[in-house]
Amino acid sequence: MLIDIIAGTRPNFMKIAPIIRALTTRSAEGGPLRFRLIHTGQHYDQRMSGAFFQQLEIPEPDVNLEVGSGTQAEQTGAIMVRYEQVLMDRRADLCLVVGDVTSTMACAIAAQKLHVPVAHVEAGIRSGDWSMPEEINRLATDAVTNWFFTTSAHANANLRRSGVEEDRIFFVGNTMIDTLLYNIDRFVPPVFDGAADLEPGRYLVVTLHRPSNVDDVGRLRAMLDAIAGSAAGIPVIFPVHPRTAKTLASVPVPETLRLIEPQPYLEFNWLVKHAMGVITDSGGVTEETTVMGVPCMTLRDSTERPETVETGTNALLGTDPSAIPPALERLLAGQWKQGGIPELWDGKTAPRIVAELERLLARAR
Ligand code: UD1
Repeated sequence: MLIDIIAGTRPNFMKIAPIIRALTTRSAEGGPLRFRLIHTGQHYDQRMSGAFFQQLEIPEPDVNLEVGSGTQAEQTGAIMVRYEQVLMDRRADLCLVVGDVTSTMACAIAAQKLHVPVAHVEAGIRSGDWSMPEEINRLATDAVTNWFFTTSAHANANLRRSGVEEDRIFFVGNTMIDTLLYNIDRFVPPVFDGAADLEPGRYLVVTLHRPSNVDDVGRLRAMLDAIAGSAAGIPVIFPVHPRTAKTLASVPVPETLRLIEPQPYLEFNWLVKHAMGVITDSGGVTEETTVMGVPCMTLRDSTERPETVETGTNALLGTDPSAIPPALERLLAGQWKQGGIPELWDGKTAPRIVAELERLLARAR
C-alpha cells in the first residue's frame, strides 16, 4: 500500500524524517507499507531545505511540486493543482501530512477531494488565534483528516471538543522529538565569525519569523532593541529567517546582536543546547528547548503548545517588548523554572505511528 508523505517547509523535515526511517525499517522486515515522498517546494533554498535533507538522512523526494514563494492563496492553489495531478497520475492509499504549514493544508484538501484518506501528524493543536496562517491551516487540515496523530492531551481534548470520535484519535507523542533525540549526540558547533569565542552557557539565541512580529519594521526594531538593551553584555546569536531578513534589510540592527545565516539542524540545535536561554516565536523550538531543559521565552500572545509552558521551560511573554527586560533579568539571575518532559515525548513516536497505520490500512482494505 502506498502512502504519500508530504513535506514543504523547514519544520516539516524534522517531523517526517523519523516516519520515513520507521517505514523503511518495517518495509525491510516485510511490512506492507511503501511511501512516496512529495516535496511541495514551499521552502526551496539550500539553507531552508537541502541542508535538512542531508543532515536528517531524508531520501531525495520522489516528486517536487516546485511551488516556491507566493501569497497564501497562490501557494495553496499551486500546491493543490500540482498535487492533484500527482494523485491522478498514480493514486495513493493514504496522504500523510505533518504540522501546520500551507503545504499541509493544501495537500490534505486535494487528497480528501479525490477520496484519498488523510492522516495528520501533530493534529488537534490550537492557538485560538485566527490571525496566524498556521491556525487556519490547522483548522482546515483537521476538518478533512481521517486519522489524527497527536502530541498532547490538550490536542486530544481539542479534537474531542470539535466532535472527532475517540477511535480516530491516536495519542502517539512528538516526531520532532524523535528527531531531536536521534541526533542529539551528533550536534556540531556552527561556523560563523566569532563562533569559536562562544562560551557554553554564556550566550542567548534569538529566532523570529512570524509575520505578526517581523513584517512590520517598527515592531521588529522595538523587540530587538529590548533584547539588546537587557542582555547585559551576553552575546545574542540571531540566525535570520529569509522572511525576517527582508525586513531587517531596512533597519539598523543593535550591535549586540550577531546576525547569522539560517543554520542547518545539527548546528542550530548545538547552539540551543548550549545556550543560556532562547527567545523565539517558533513553535517547534519551544518543544526542543523543553526536552533539552533550556530556558525559553516565547514572543507571542498565545501558544498551541501549552504543555511547553505547563510542563516545560517555556514562558509566554506576549508581543509587547516591555515584557522582555524583566524576563531576561530573571534568566540572568538564575531564577528560571526547571522543566519536565511531556508524556510520550520519548523518541519512539514514529514507530507507534507506523504500527497504527499498518493496522488502520489493513482494516480499510
Ligand atoms: C513557513 C510556515 C511557518 C513555518 C515557517 C518555518 C506557512 C503559512 N508558514 O513560514 O508555519 O514556521 O515556514 O520556516 O506555511 N524564502 C526563501 N527561501 C526559502 C523559503 C522561503 O527565501 O527556501 C522566503 C520566501 O520567498 C518568502 C519568505 O521566505 O518571502 C517566507 O516564506 P514562506 O514559505 O512564505 O513562509 P514562512 O514565513 O517561511
